[in-house]
Amino acid sequence: MPDFNGAGPVPRRFPLAILGAGALGLHFASRLAPVVPLALIARSANRAADLAAGVGVGGHDFQPTVFSPPSVPEADWVLILVKGPDTEAAGRLAAGMAPRGVLSLQNGLTEPALRSVCPAGRVGQGITTAGAYRDGARVVPTADGTTLLPPGFEPVAAWLVEAGFEARISPAIAAERLAKLLVNVAINPLAAIFRVTNGALLAPPHRVLLDALVDEAWPVLRREGLALDLGAAREWVAEVAARTGANRASMLQDILAGRATEIETITGALLAMAAAQGVVLPTHEAVRTLVRRLEGGTPPPPPIALASRA
Ligand SMILES: NC(=O)c1ccc[n+]([C@@H]2O[C@H](COP(=O)([O-])OP(=O)(O)OC[C@H]3O[C@@H](n4cnc5c(N)ncnc54)[C@H](OP(=O)(O)O)[C@@H]3O)[C@@H](O)[C@H]2O)c1
Repeated sequence: MPDFNGAGPVPRRFPLAILGAGALGLHFASRLAPVVPLALIARSANRAADLAAGVGVGGHDFQPTVFSPPSVPEADWVLILVKGPDTEAAGRLAAGMAPRGVLSLQNGLTEPALRSVCPAGRVGQGITTAGAYRDGARVVPTADGTTLLPPGFEPVAAWLVEAGFEARISPAIAAERLAKLLVNVAINPLAAIFRVTNGALLAPPHRVLLDALVDEAWPVLRREGLALDLGAAREWVAEVAARTGANRASMLQDILAGRATEIETITGALLAMAAAQGVVLPTHEAVRTLVRRLEGGTPPPPPIALASRA
């Protein structure tokens, strides 16, 4: 098994692995590595070699113990921090690491996809308001935020706390994930389509669409267990848009960079819930189609077949 740091024997099994050496993965990894033996899993051997030489994270030089497929170690706990479209590939890689648990802190709803490729062990999805972005080769952390984890991931929560993050197990994680999904389905696609900062969505002409997305999503998410009533849901989304007013949403950054977006694990996840409930959400269908067009990909098929005339 290659050790890209070249420093002594490499353990065959680590307590913790982070799969996804991007902005958030490196933010967490650089803080967790002093606390717990940590394997960082990069997508390719080239990327792993670059990282092993050292990467700037928050003004410090971080030298991770880094691996790439197919030579990955086993790990007790695997933290998934890849973007939505890479979830299943990452989940399959994680499953091969014989983990006790696989934890996603991704945006959108990725737990069902991870569960489908990680049949053994615990699979869960938490939420985080930690933030970071990539600036060339280096990573700039923007927030330590708050991280909520599902019950069963106590060791991971303890390591995060030891590393200085605010983190805790939340018994209400399912409802909290839905509240985050509500924010993401409302703000992310509109910011990407209109190429505006989050705060601009609170004013005309975008506000009417923001409200429409919230009002359409709310009954579906409420039936799934969202704890907010409609008034509180509207206020929550508006408050997040105002608080992050100067930010460019990640979906906008992906469109501007010509990358695939997380539209399927965000809006697509909501639409799958709606379909299971027998509900059609035309505004969300429309924004999904527009974002897929902007990505340059093929839009998904329309949800309802038009009745043919006799
Ligand atoms: N950044 C934030 O502030 C923030 C905040 C909250 C939540 N999130 C969520 O956290 C997740 C990660 O976001 P991010 O901003 O860190 O994304 P990112 O910077 O694009 O990092 C994702 C990393 O995953 C790697 N990757 C993809 N497929 C892989 C695979 N099969 N095996 C190993 N590595 C793989 C990518 O490798 P390549 O570089 O080779 O493509 C990339 O380095 C997303 O769901 C995002 O919505 C991010």
